Amino acid sequence: TQAASSGSSGGNADKKIVMGFAQVGAESGWRTANTKSVQESAKTAGVDLKFSDAQQKQENQIKAIRSYIQQKVDVIAFSPVVESGWDTVLKEAKDAKIPVILTDRAVDSADKSLYKTFLGSDFVLEGKKAGEWLVAETKAATDTVNIVEIQGTTGSAPANDRKEGFQDAIKANPKLKIIASQSGDFTRSGGKQVMEAFLKNNPDIDVVFAHNDDEGLGAIEAIEAAGKVPGKDIKIITIDAVKDGMTALSAGKINYIVECSPLLGTQLMDLAKKVLAGETVPERVVTEETTFTQEQATKALPTRQY
Ligand code: AHR
Repeated sequence: TQAASSGSSGGNADKKIVMGFAQVGAESGWRTANTKSVQESAKTAGVDLKFSDAQQKQENQIKAIRSYIQQKVDVIAFSPVVESGWDTVLKEAKDAKIPVILTDRAVDSADKSLYKTFLGSDFVLEGKKAGEWLVAETKAATDTVNIVEIQGTTGSAPANDRKEGFQDAIKANPKLKIIASQSGDFTRSGGKQVMEAFLKNNPDIDVVFAHNDDEGLGAIEAIEAAGKVPGKDIKIITIDAVKDGMTALSAGKINYIVECSPLLGTQLMDLAKKVLAGETVPERVVTEETTFTQEQATKALPTRQY
């Protein structure tokens, strides 16, 4: 491997790093942009990337990681579909002396030595920013504000954390009430289905908090089909800020977006090189991100990369 060959043996210093990357799937615009970022950055960094798509199934990701261990890759990176259930396979990688880098999503393993670092967003903060915007928006409200929440994939770090951050923030205004909450699995079709059911069962919905843009975009379809105006009759807050989401925000169909950056590729390649060179890397690398109002989305759209 690279780690074994760089050093006194000589002659092998130019050997390419081999990275096995176990991606969650292709569930959202965010994920597509993330995959592109990882693939392009690997090329630029001269990293030989082995890529697999788990179609949002943990067992597929575990299989992919085991296959990378068998192939003796230099480093494994992955975005865990859910938080729990990784200890056994991570221990196998550790025993094979293959370093692991968590990308985008966290695991809940108590043993932090099972991975070298975790690169990605602060999902609790994202949920908090969404909630804080709503608190400010509704400060003059005299009636209860009925919120429905379309959660991300059940058991995933972003779904758990965004829920937590949002709930925490909206406590500041007792008028804000989450009246229904269900998973849309981070997909557009999931968001649409969940919203259809919400609309059927709740005649008086004021706000949708969707855990990603795709779910919000699905919700827009359901709201329009029910004869209501998204962004006006029902306010919508989402997370990600991919082009389709920003376009809907700019058009007034979404009211606020909290950014979650998928552009993790360059930092991932840098971290992998450092880890394999034996350098110390921070335990946690947090992605920098912002928020968008309608006006800010209109300004940002022409140069938005994804
Ligand atoms: O883990 C990041 C989340 O996963 C993004 O917010 C969502 O769009 C994606 O599917």
